[in-house]
This record gives sequence, structure tokens and C-alpha cells, in this order.
Amino acid sequence: MTEYPMFKVHMDVEAALAELRTVLESGFVNEGVQVSALQRAVAEFLGVKQLVLTNSCTSALTLALKLCGVAPGSEVVTTPMTCVATNTPIDNLGGTVVWADIDPETASIDAGDVERRLTPATRAIMCVAWAGTPCDLDALDTLARRRGVPLIHDAAHAFGATWRGRPLSDFADFTCYSFQAIKHLSCGDGGALICRDPEAFVLARKLKWFGYDRDAHKDERGEWKGQRWSADIEAGEIGFKYNMNNITAAIGLAQMPHLKRILDQHRRNGAAYTEAFRSSTIIRPLRVPEPAVSSYWVYSALVVDETVDRDRLLEALNAEGIAAGLVHVPNDVYTAFGKYGADLPGVRRFADRQISLPCGWWLSEEDCVKIAARVHTLARVA
Ligand SMILES: Cc1ncc(COP(=O)(O)O)c(C=O)c1O
Repeated sequence: MTEYPMFKVHMDVEAALAELRTVLESGFVNEGVQVSALQRAVAEFLGVKQLVLTNSCTSALTLALKLCGVAPGSEVVTTPMTCVATNTPIDNLGGTVVWADIDPETASIDAGDVERRLTPATRAIMCVAWAGTPCDLDALDTLARRRGVPLIHDAAHAFGATWRGRPLSDFADFTCYSFQAIKHLSCGDGGALICRDPEAFVLARKLKWFGYDRDAHKDERGEWKGQRWSADIEAGEIGFKYNMNNITAAIGLAQMPHLKRILDQHRRNGAAYTEAFRSSTIIRPLRVPEPAVSSYWVYSALVVDETVDRDRLLEALNAEGIAAGLVHVPNDVYTAFGKYGADLPGVRRFADRQISLPCGWWLSEEDCVKIAARVHTLARVA
């Protein structure tokens, strides 16, 4: 049976081993030249400037929330239709999660509902690029600027996606990426935070390493120059241990030459599914807003034929080696998030009918057409 996994890590093993050898032989595995090189390479790939690498996207999101001033008494308006990593940092910083509804046709948080939920205590709006498709950044960025509340875009799924032909980070105060085990670019674990405001960027670089300005103090290897106690941590700038290290950066560096090809194949596969489902009465692809180019991390769609049992369809696909699934369940179903309850019809509609199909570089367009055909056939019996 041919297996179609949902996720597969791309790894140029020889190149990664060569990069790792350099790091291990140097004996310097902390944040150093490899981290700086990956930081430059990722920033150049995305066409951005104010980027700081972190040890995960969860860390990048935590830094962004901290930079927005999230603390006990603060509220953050956010979506439950995401990985828990989007929302756990809000609670961990002492903030209050305020759920807003999503548009079930895009899975993007609904700007109108966000606005209704803003209060004087709101310190940030969090949106999530579901499956690699950017949120409606025109509506959300305009709202955020008009109401003076910073916008954080969790773009963990969306490496290489664009809005109006420009980097996503042009349309949010903070944009966060993940380089975790199953992302387009994987370092094992890793992430990036891009700050629109130069002062926030300076502070982000400090907060990712306890609050010290490591960049101002390091030598050419990345090693601290002079005595540690000669540097200060300024008032209100106590940070975290969120830096990337040379080992993970070395793995990331080996991936960079392949990234364009990986993303191109994800996009071609996405287009193949959209074409295959164009006139389907069973499956409706999620709508990609006109200004967006998605990175199609997975292919997300709705089972719109109400007579089809969605969960049985997924089981039937899985039995044939097609790793279709849900990827994430709405966070508000977890007991721990129950205290933030809200009425969210768009989330319920999406969560009950969504499916994700494998879409990555390890598949061809023909594979996707075949999978789409199996979805149609199995839906008739599910
Ligand atoms: C939407 C979303 N945000 C954040 C994260 C967290 O990423 P990381 O594992 O790099 O912390 C994930 C992880 O898969 C995710 O799917």
C-alpha cells in the first residue's frame, strides 16, 4: 500500500552533517556564527529585516506578547482554532484569553468579531494563518492600527506565504514562524520573530536572552566579550532563555538551498487539489483571500455534504494509507481553557466539517489528484 504521510521532514543529510561537523568540531554550540548565518539567510529569503531567531515559535509568540505588555489584567483577543501553542503563552504570562469567532470559509479570525471583543484591557490581537494561508491582513491590520492595539500574526504554518506580494510581516506588528519538526523549514526546533517597530526589535533581541544585549557584547564566534557582570539588564527588561543554538541553526542552514523547491511543490499540490475539488458538491476548499499566496502546509477543506460522516471519511482514508486528519482541534474544548468560554458558531461550523489532506513536497500533483478522487469515492460510503 502506498503511504501518503501528512508530514515529512525534508533533510539534506550530507549537508546537515557537514554543517554539524563544523559546529561540533568548533566546540562552540551556543548562539554563534551558524545562528547569525541562518538569521541572515531566513531574513533574506523572506525579504525582511528585523528578524530574531528563537528556539521555537512558542517562544517567539511569548516574546511578542511580552512586547505588547501582556501581564496579569491584560486581555488578548485570539482564535481557538489553532495549535495550543498560540494561546498557552497568553495564559502563562498571566493574561486573559478572549475568544473571537472565525470565518468558517477561511478559518481566519473575523475582524468584525475581534472589534466587538476589544476592551480598554486588550493588549494584543492574535491571528493565525491556518494551514499556510494568511489571515485577512488588510482588515486586521487596519483594525489594529485604528484601535491602537498591536496585531500578532502566528504564521507557524505559513513560511513563504505572502500578502499583496509582500512579506506577511509588513502587515502585522509581530509575525512568528516555526521551524519545528514538521514545518516547511525544520531545524528540529526553532522559530523566528519579526518586529515591525525598530524599538520593539531592539528589545526583542535582549528579551530572548534574559534581557542582556548579547549582540552588542559578542565576539566574532558569538562568545560573550569581556566580563558578563559588566553588562546590565535594564529595568522592566527581564527576559527569557529563548535563543537558538548553533546545532539547530546548522540543521536549518543545510535546508535553505532546498526551500524554494519545497515551497513551490507545496503550492503546486495545493493548486492540484483546488482544481480537483472545483466542482465538487462534497468538498469545498477553503477560500484563499485574493491578495494572499498560501504556503499550503497542509490542504484544508470543508466536507460540505451534510450526509457525509466526516470522521468516518477520515478513518476510511487513513485505512488506505492517506494520513488525512484534523491537525488541530479548537482550544476552547480543553478543560483548561473552559474558563474563557464564548459563543463561537463559526468555530463550531469549521471544527465539525474541516479536514486536512497531505500536501507537502513528498507528493506529486498526480498523488493529490488521486487522493482527491479517493476522498470523493470514500465520502459516498462514509
Ligand atoms: C499555529 C501554530 N502556532 C504555534 C506553533 C508552535 O510552534 P513551535 O513548536 O515551533 O513552538 C505551532 C506548532 O505546530 C502551530 O501549529
